[in-house]
Amino acid sequence: MRRLEGRVAVVTGGASGIGEATARLFAAEGARVVVGDIQEEAGRDVAKSLGAGALFERADVTREEDVAGLVARAVEGFGRLDVMFNNAGALGARGSLLELGAADFDRTMALLFRSVFFGMVHAGRVMREQGGGVILSTSSIAGLCPGSGPHLYTTAKAAVIHLTRSAALELGEYGIRVNCLCPGGVPTPLVAGALGLEGERALESIRRGMRETQAIKRAGSPEDVARAALFLASDEAEYITGVALPVDGGESVGPPWSRQVLK
Ligand SMILES: NC(=O)c1ccc[n+]([C@@H]2O[C@H](COP(=O)([O-])OP(=O)(O)OC[C@H]3O[C@@H](n4cnc5c(N)ncnc54)[C@H](O)[C@@H]3O)[C@@H](O)[C@H]2O)c1
Repeated sequence: MRRLEGRVAVVTGGASGIGEATARLFAAEGARVVVGDIQEEAGRDVAKSLGAGALFERADVTREEDVAGLVARAVEGFGRLDVMFNNAGALGARGSLLELGAADFDRTMALLFRSVFFGMVHAGRVMREQGGGVILSTSSIAGLCPGSGPHLYTTAKAAVIHLTRSAALELGEYGIRVNCLCPGGVPTPLVAGALGLEGERALESIRRGMRETQAIKRAGSPEDVARAALFLASDEAEYITGVALPVDGGESVGPPWSRQVLK
């Protein structure tokens, strides 16, 4: 028996990276999947490659109506919604705190935090009527360790963790589990873009650079994160809610004591 047989999932940011890998794994495990993204061509290609059990819907997650539209599309297209994966994101505003302004704040929080809030609200309403479901979101190691990203990125990702825990408290009585993932450095277009690089060679050089920084001596992959998402989405995690699961090869644990002392 496949682990998501008969389930219906929405994956935001499903055209690339972690979202794409998760959409593929969910589909392989029997789920029907709505892929939501602003990248239309790539998103359509992903959905098409997954066959009749998947569809693409253009959605900008900074717009509440688009997030609500993804939830509605799952219900119209496949009859229900079992798993909402609030994953879309980008780095947002960067630079010195002292140079950031209101537009930077609003744009970054809308993409990385308000989008997750809308995802929880709209999916939660459907799941409450259905009698259950799973809400997952992609936070980040940056939500645990402030130095791992720009100020507003880390703050938005920390807010995702806090809202996950808060929502889990309320929604448990409706059979809805709410969890989030905290990936470490995963070479995807998001990371390449953050470093001003492009293409497969850029990703390979990021992979090389990441190998030495953590307990498990290799860079993470979108599939590493997708497998954790699958576990949390499946019935194997039926007693797990309100957690922020690091998927980071041990990066959030910090550098080894021996390395600090020997420096
Ligand atoms: N790659 C990493 O190292 C890493 C680490 C921790 C957390 N994350 C988080 O993982 C998530 C996925 O990132 P990724 O690394 O797979 O990057 P990615 O660039 O490969 O994928 C992000 C996807 O989100 C989409 N997107 C961006 N803005 C959108 C919007 N307004 N509406 C809808 N879709 C939008 C993009 O088009 C893209 O397809 C993000 O939330 C990111 O913050 C990534």
